[in-house]
Amino acid sequence: MAKKHVVAAVSELPPGGRKLVEASGRAIVVFNLGGEYFALANRCPHRGGDLSKGLLTGLVLSGEPGEYEYIRQGEIVRCPWHNWEFDIRTGKSWCDPEKVKARRFGVSVEKGAKLIEGPYVAETFKVSVENDYVVVEA
Ligand code: FES
Repeated sequence: MAKKHVVAAVSELPPGGRKLVEASGRAIVVFNLGGEYFALANRCPHRGGDLSKGLLTGLVLSGEPGEYEYIRQGEIVRCPWHNWEFDIRTGKSWCDPEKVKARRFGVSVEKGAKLIEGPYVAETFKVSVENDYVVVEA
């Protein structure tokens, strides 16, 4: 059963930011997309590339030649090894979204006062009742 791990204070993970954490022995990268948090295994499903070091990009849509639209800027991570791209919200790859996916983990924001009630695993730092924290289930 997945445990809840306190992995960061909200203040250290601003919008557009990411943080590589460890939970239940797994390397996980947590992203903040405009105030929403998402967590992916830090292991590209192709050959194990380090997604925490990937370029953040978006999607280009084109309905006809010469016209295009750039959308979802910063919501796609490009693996630094062979440039496969993954949707941070779903973990799905751009090349084969139904078969090739980065593993997702549940992530939430909890108030420090609630964390004191448990059950959570705060392995790496102290929490205080005044702050909010990012919690990953792994
Ligand atoms: S290891 Fe990520 S694209 Fe190849």
